[in-house]
Amino acid sequence: MADKPDTVPAEPCLDPFALARALSGKHFIGGRFVPALSGRSFPVVNPATGAEVARAAEGDAADVAAAVEDAARAQKEWARMPARRRGALVHACAAAIRPHIEELGRLIALETGKALRTESRVEANTVADILEFFGGLGGELKGETVPFAPDVLSITVREPLGVVGAIIPWNVPMLLMSLKVAPALVAGNSVVVKSAEEAPLAVLRICEIMNRVLPPGVFNILSGFGPDCGGPLVAHPLVRKVTFTGSVETGKIVYRTAAEKLIPVTLELGGKSPMIVFADCDFDRTVQGALTSMRFTRQGQSCTAASRIYVERPIFDRFLAAMKAALDRMVMGDPLDERTDIGTIVSPAQYEKVRAYIEEGRATPGATAHLCSALPTDPALKKGLFLQPVIFTGLESSSRLVREEIFGPVTVLTPFDTPEQVLAWANDSDYGLAASVWTNNLKHALEFTHRLEAGLVQVNQNLVVQANLSYGGVKNSGLGKEASLEAMLEHFTHKKTIMMKMG
Ligand code: NAI
Ligand code: MG
Repeated sequence: MADKPDTVPAEPCLDPFALARALSGKHFIGGRFVPALSGRSFPVVNPATGAEVARAAEGDAADVAAAVEDAARAQKEWARMPARRRGALVHACAAAIRPHIEELGRLIALETGKALRTESRVEANTVADILEFFGGLGGELKGETVPFAPDVLSITVREPLGVVGAIIPWNVPMLLMSLKVAPALVAGNSVVVKSAEEAPLAVLRICEIMNRVLPPGVFNILSGFGPDCGGPLVAHPLVRKVTFTGSVETGKIVYRTAAEKLIPVTLELGGKSPMIVFADCDFDRTVQGALTSMRFTRQGQSCTAASRIYVERPIFDRFLAAMKAALDRMVMGDPLDERTDIGTIVSPAQYEKVRAYIEEGRATPGATAHLCSALPTDPALKKGLFLQPVIFTGLESSSRLVREEIFGPVTVLTPFDTPEQVLAWANDSDYGLAASVWTNNLKHALEFTHRLEAGLVQVNQNLVVQANLSYGGVKNSGLGKEASLEAMLEHFTHKKTIMMKMG
């Protein structure tokens, strides 16, 4: 690695290794790249080879204070800008991002191990889409007139909250960051993001590109570890709202800290999403649907992954065989190779966590692990965090593999006999993020959409979060909504009541 930090190119850079080096050791605060005040950094590793590809600035409370104070200063003027003008600038950020989509796809593939063709490029495209969607909503920050008395004009106005602290994970960091930053900015807040340790680079690049359009200080990003950098961000007195995506465990810590300051919090905390397959489904489409629903191309590292698949008994064996055959056709390999369908697990810690679940499943009496696809043979990838997708059968509903979020390429297939039985199983979960039902029977479809305990229920598809559709879970899956107009209004503004006595 070069001793002197490379300057970051303004032009799109299709060599992700060079771009990763150039982005090394930097936060983005107050409209410019800055190193960590402590001078410390930590490695960014390519999970396909184990090689260090960059360093990330290691932020702590001092960096947080610098970023938040700057964001607080910038927010005052930003909030005074007409809302539609703010929206127009966020929309213009999308135009600035578009020429960089290929670059961002390659960079995120390098740092997370997600395959470029099936996942990383797709994620990069969603960033521009989300910025465009929220950019158009400036004019929707409307208040109301309230009937009170003829000589008193009573109205409400939507005001921004101030500085928003956003903490994001590594699985789809560009997408999840956009879902937080875009509505927060359009609503007149400024934002300080704490990126995930495993994936600090692509989001840093996005922040820099958006700062070519935005006034300095309204969008800042720090890298660093959870407790040392994320913790102080949540606790900082000038942070007036926190939005978090990640684990239940960390979400509770964030919520407790925010409670001390009495500030609002949005939490998106994952799931254990059931997929229910009736025998009358469109068979081939549903088998393909199971593969996409389980996000096997993302190694199952998705909060809406269909990690519990219940199949009506008459088609169970046929469904298992067809699913395994389809998975066997998927190619595991170098994430940057266009032929690759499935890349790597993001980090050694995550790899070990998933492997331990697989071992536990294999050791369970009566259970069978159906290993699918094949590990890559290329010697350059021998240290890569590749893991064969696994379909488990024969697990009881009490198994940890059926109850806990694994966040890996592991799904559990279980036969069912009656609608009541499968509904009870589906709802017997601490989570409630997403669910899907696959059937051509309208009665079952409608009834299940009402009775499934989840924030998002889909019939004959299981798409990821989409701009314009409110997204957020019940039970341990979180608090609040993202991705929609409602999300912007309810979670990034407060309503002020104004009464003007005229008589
Ligand atoms: P995590 O919840 O610990 O990390 C998410 C973010 O929170 C990261 O930016 C991290 O630095 C930050 N963080 C960690 N501790 C913090 C603290 N004390 N204060 C403030 N911020 C803190 O998740 P992790 O460790 O990456 O993954 C563990 C499990 O969490 C996964 O196996 C998966 O089950 C779940 N998860 C769920 C996600 C979702 O989309 N809902 C995303 C990522 C992980
Ligand atoms: Mg953690």
